[in-house]
Amino acid sequence: MAQRRKIIIDTDPGQDDAVAILLALASPELEILGIATVAGNVPLALTEKNARKICELAGRPDVPVYAGAVRPMVNDLVTAEHVHGKTGLDGPDLPDPRMPLQAKHAVDWIIETLMAHEAGEVTLCTLGPLTNIALALVREPAIASRVREIVMMGGGFFEGGNVTPAAEFNIYVDPHAADVVFRSGIPIVMMPLDVTHKALTTSARIAAFRNLGTHVGSATAEMLEFFERFDEEKYGSDGGPLHDPCVIAYLLQPELFSGRLCNVSIETASELTLGMTVIDWWRVTDRPANAHVMRDIDHEGFFRLLVERLGRL
Ligand code: RIB
Ligand code: CA
Repeated sequence: MAQRRKIIIDTDPGQDDAVAILLALASPELEILGIATVAGNVPLALTEKNARKICELAGRPDVPVYAGAVRPMVNDLVTAEHVHGKTGLDGPDLPDPRMPLQAKHAVDWIIETLMAHEAGEVTLCTLGPLTNIALALVREPAIASRVREIVMMGGGFFEGGNVTPAAEFNIYVDPHAADVVFRSGIPIVMMPLDVTHKALTTSARIAAFRNLGTHVGSATAEMLEFFERFDEEKYGSDGGPLHDPCVIAYLLQPELFSGRLCNVSIETASELTLGMTVIDWWRVTDRPANAHVMRDIDHEGFFRLLVERLGRL
């Protein structure tokens, strides 16, 4: 097998985060160095616990889980229990984790890990607000030249926002962190709502997970059935967008996605459009291209990959 790709997952589980983590754990092409958790969908005390629940669901209590930022850099924390439930992982009844939470702060661990590896060896996969990554960049700017790339779920442009008319949740929760990351010079692959809204958890796709006949398959079906109800109600669709697994799927099969290199700038001041990712898709400015923005997905291929890989757990 070719050299396994070393990744750090930074996440705020979250049912869609959970499926992304399961996909990564089921894929031998990837070496998960560890999971950093951040406040987002629910408070940090729950996101770190949920990350450990997911590792144990996959039979991987060996994966180190770290707790990071308890709140955004500047703004107060905004959470999304109305989408993810009060535990952040409503749906299946998963037991409390027995594996320990690592004592080290996630920001310190991210810095130490990046400084201990060769430049260009480690990929950051972010599934939630970018607070941990921004804090790491401020604490140790030298990491910017060492990250291979950041593959992140967040933002939106043609689709607008999902938490305000202008802003997507991950960016809205910590727009200042997103601004630090998008100005860092680190190569970014961005999975905005424009692409994730094309990956819907239709009832046929949820049935495919359930038909795996495994504990992971049924737990995934239960997570998605809970997670999708809010968006089905909002968009009147069959199924909800499965955001975060797009990040991991890109590492495994980048050909599932298409987009273009362009500038992405973050609104951090306006009350009306706070957290908006202003994507210069038509290159009408001379702002430097800082992100490979994805807009299309082979959603059939995406779900085929998901079901096949989760079937291995
Ligand atoms: O807007 C979708 C994003 O916000 C996803 O990462 C979801 O898990 C929530 O964090
Ligand atoms: Ca998330």
